[in-house]
Amino acid sequence: MGTTIGFIGAGEMAEAIISGIQPSGQFTALTVINYSDKVKLNRLQHLYNVNVTNDYENAIRDKDIIVLAVKPKNLHEAILSIRPFLRKNQLIISVVAGIRLATIEQWLPKETVVIRAMPNTSAKVHASATAISIGTFAKEKEIKLAKNVFTSIGSVSIVNDDQMDTVTAIAGSGPAYFYYLAEIMINTAIEKGLSAEEARAFVAQTMLGSATRLSVSEKPASELYQEIMSPGGTTEAAISYLNESNSNLHFKEAIHHAYNRSATIGQTFLTSKK
Ligand SMILES: NC(=O)c1ccc[n+]([C@@H]2O[C@H](COP(=O)([O-])OP(=O)(O)OC[C@H]3O[C@@H](n4cnc5c(N)ncnc54)[C@H](OP(=O)(O)O)[C@@H]3O)[C@@H](O)[C@H]2O)c1
Repeated sequence: MGTTIGFIGAGEMAEAIISGIQPSGQFTALTVINYSDKVKLNRLQHLYNVNVTNDYENAIRDKDIIVLAVKPKNLHEAILSIRPFLRKNQLIISVVAGIRLATIEQWLPKETVVIRAMPNTSAKVHASATAISIGTFAKEKEIKLAKNVFTSIGSVSIVNDDQMDTVTAIAGSGPAYFYYLAEIMINTAIEKGLSAEEARAFVAQTMLGSATRLSVSEKPASELYQEIMSPGGTTEAAISYLNESNSNLHFKEAIHHAYNRSATIGQTFLTSKK
C-alpha cells in the first residue's frame, strides 16, 4: 500500500497538490475534508477520485501524512478539530502561509512531527518551487516522506523556518506576479492587432523559454536581459522606460509587501493561543 494522506481543506492549494501527486500512484487513500462547502468536495471526488468526508476522525485516521491546507485564520480551529484523533507517528505538513513551525508545534500535542511547506499553484503542472522547513521532531524518515510528496509536484528545497516569509513572497506568491505581467503583455498584444489566442501563445512560450534559460544558464538575470538590449533597439527602448519610471523599485516594494504580510501573519499567531 502507498503512503496515505488526509487533507484538511479543499481549496486551491489542496487541489493543486492532489492533482500533482495523484498520477504518481505513490500515494493512496487520499481523503479530503473541508469546512462546509459540499459542492467543492464533490467536485474533487469526481475529478480526482479522492475520498471525501465531513468527519475529522475519518479524514485523518490511518493516514501517514496530514496536510493542513486552510487559510491562516482557520488553522487553529482546524487543528483543534483533528487533535483528539492524532496518533504519535503521523506527519503533519502545513502549507499555511505565515504561521511558523513553533506556533504549529505549540498548537499540536507534544512532540508531534511537523514539516512546514510553501508550494505554489504550479503544482498543478508538476512545476511547483516548494520550500520545506523541518520541525523539531521530524527525522530523516519524515523529511523523506515530505520530499516525496513535493518532488511529485516539482522541485523541493529545505530552508530554515525564518526564511519562509522570503520564500512565500518570492515563490508562493510568485506565479501571480508572472500572470500579472502576462496579462499586461497579452492585452497590449491584442490592442496592437494579435488575436487573443496568438497573444497568449506568444506570451506563454516567451515566459517558458525565459524561465528555462534562467534555470540552465549560469549568467545573472541582468546579463540575460542586457544581452537582448542592443543600443537603439526595441528592448533597450522598453527597459530604459521601465528603469526611468522606477518600475524596478515598485516591483521590489510589491515583494516587500508580500513579505511583510507573511511576517505579520506569523507574528500575529506567534504565542496567541494554545
Ligand atoms: N493558493 C496559493 O497559491 C497558495 C500558495 C502557497 C500556500 N498557500 C496556502 O495554502 C492555504 C490554503 O490556501 P487556498 O488558496 O487553498 O485557500 P482556499 O481556496 O480558501 O481553501 C481553504 C480551504 O480550507 C477549508 N477550511 C477552512 N476552515 C476549515 C476547518 N476548520 N476545517 C476544515 N477545512 C477548513 C475551506 O473549506 P470550505 O471549502 O468549506 O470553504 C477551504 O476548502 C493558505 O494558508 C495559503 O496561505 C496557498
